[in-house]
Amino acid sequence: MKAIVYTKYGGPEVLQIKEIEKPYPKDDEVLIKVYAVSLNDWDWGLLQGDFINRLLNGLLKPKKKILGSDIAGRIEAVGKNVKQFKTGDNVYGDLSGDWGGLAEYVCARENALALKPSSMSFVEAAAIPQAAMLAVQGLRDKGQIQPGQKLLINGAGGGVGTFAVQIAKLYEVEVTGVDSTGKLDMLLTMGFDHVIDYTKEDFTKNGKCYDLILDVKTNRSIFDYTRALCRNGIYVTVGGSMGRLLQALLLGPSISMTRKKHIRIVALKPNKDLAYMNELFEAGKVKPVIDGPYRLDEVPDTFRIFGKGDHKGKIVITM
Ligand SMILES: NC(=O)c1ccc[n+]([C@@H]2O[C@H](COP(=O)([O-])OP(=O)(O)OC[C@H]3O[C@@H](n4cnc5c(N)ncnc54)[C@H](OP(=O)(O)O)[C@@H]3O)[C@@H](O)[C@H]2O)c1
Repeated sequence: MKAIVYTKYGGPEVLQIKEIEKPYPKDDEVLIKVYAVSLNDWDWGLLQGDFINRLLNGLLKPKKKILGSDIAGRIEAVGKNVKQFKTGDNVYGDLSGDWGGLAEYVCARENALALKPSSMSFVEAAAIPQAAMLAVQGLRDKGQIQPGQKLLINGAGGGVGTFAVQIAKLYEVEVTGVDSTGKLDMLLTMGFDHVIDYTKEDFTKNGKCYDLILDVKTNRSIFDYTRALCRNGIYVTVGGSMGRLLQALLLGPSISMTRKKHIRIVALKPNKDLAYMNELFEAGKVKPVIDGPYRLDEVPDTFRIFGKGDHKGKIVITM
């Protein structure tokens, strides 16, 4: 089968398309013919081999050599202990930890998968898992989003932000999106009520306050974010700079006690809310924003686009 393989950490140039052996499912796995896969920030981190990702995937060189966690495809074979799925089922899910999605076939444990609704394309399905889970778990579970609130999404035009605004609108909140100049028109078309160009304005210094902030970039001091929260407001970080996240983790509890403002960090629960996303999709309430689809041989270029932040919504690759 064809796969995108990397044997050393680096930029998109270390990714190579190779012919390798098709995998064989273990007893508790299914073999999936992959039709579509989307890129995540985590793939970018694993490619480059930052400190945390080296701890996960090998200090000197990557142990797991095929990136790609969010896949959609058809089950081609099932291990003997698999109970929920059968050959021919169309499935999708986040295979983080095992990865391997940037290939024509991948094996997966059944708890990483959900059935794909027939009205959802493989491309749409591949866009959903990680970004939509972070959006749902950030807004609903950590953010306790309530009708009538003022919400700000920092890093609004990428994977998480484009799901988050659609989910937030189900709660009838007023949503402000922060991103770069080139993405603001798309944000307004998608339903953001207000947009802020972070290259021209700092939302933590404009005197406005928000009841809930969902941040996918976390690149400022926790005190800046606290300033932009209204009384009893909640700041939820999904990810960003390690130093800033550490600051949020360490200082969050004391800020909550002394300032009546709350700092929370999302720890992704992969695939937990795929059934909920199926419901929203089938009801026409959420539609993934797709950048692409691109071909497998274009994967190094898609990583270049991702690395520059030029993508809108989710980059999807089809086989
Ligand atoms: N908590 C967990 O367990 C967990 C698990 C997996 C991933 N994550 C995290 O989840 C996040 C993934 O987010 P995503 O998929 O939405 O990423 P994304 O697709 O890369 O989107 C990020 C957006 O932020 C914009 N941006 C860049 N710099 C900005 C700035 N200074 N201010 C405001 N916006 C800025 C980018 O556009 P421009 O580049 O054009 O500005 C882009 O549109 C990452 O932080 C990742 O580390 C967390």
